[in-house]
Amino acid sequence: MIKVAPSILSADYTKLGEEINSVKSADYLHFDVMDGVFVSNLTIGLPVLESVRRITEMTLDVHLMITSPARFTARFARAGADIVVFHVEAETPENISAAIDEIHALGKRAGLSIKPGTPAEKLFPYIDKLDMALVMTVEPGFGGQKFIPEALPKIAQLRKTITSRALKCDIEVDGGINVETAKLCADAGANVLVAGSDIFGRTDRAARIAELRKVCAH
Ligand code: DX5
Ligand code: ZN
Repeated sequence: MIKVAPSILSADYTKLGEEINSVKSADYLHFDVMDGVFVSNLTIGLPVLESVRRITEMTLDVHLMITSPARFTARFARAGADIVVFHVEAETPENISAAIDEIHALGKRAGLSIKPGTPAEKLFPYIDKLDMALVMTVEPGFGGQKFIPEALPKIAQLRKTITSRALKCDIEVDGGINVETAKLCADAGANVLVAGSDIFGRTDRAARIAELRKVCAH
């Protein structure tokens, strides 16, 4: 079953509550945190997450695009994230393992992400205990970019590994997702679709969420 996760990076922050309400038929709400160092953009952080947590029951999928994310993973889990995803490129192996355990100890789901230039193998040492593998399908940093098709074989490789080891890890894709690229990703093995501009860029958001699910149904 395909899950859709609208990214509030493309929402209007002057009316964030209404914007979130307009996508409540989705499965997760994707929350992009950027620090201006790991990526060349700055976005939102803990105070906004705390506010969002108070106004929605949606599953909050927090994507940390920050350096040394293990400093913050537990704080985001405590602030209301249901899923805390951080980048494998941004941490040491010891800190990655410890952060995953800490997120789990707080009763939350843990995910790791790879940028377009990072091979899928970088996730393999952790995959047994991951709830989510996030394959970036654009360079992280900005909404509205063009999908990078070179990510597709990595999705397939991860799906093969997850199936062969009988793991429960979800595969999420993020960046340039629309009805065409969503289908390519789902066919390769992704089951969670992040979409920012393709959902928030239109008024019929619930219909678009349903359409994204439908085009991926096998
Ligand atoms: C980009 C973010 C994405 C972004 C996707 O670094 O991680 O979540 O919002 O935006 P679209 O769907 O517009 O490519
Ligand atoms: Zn994201």
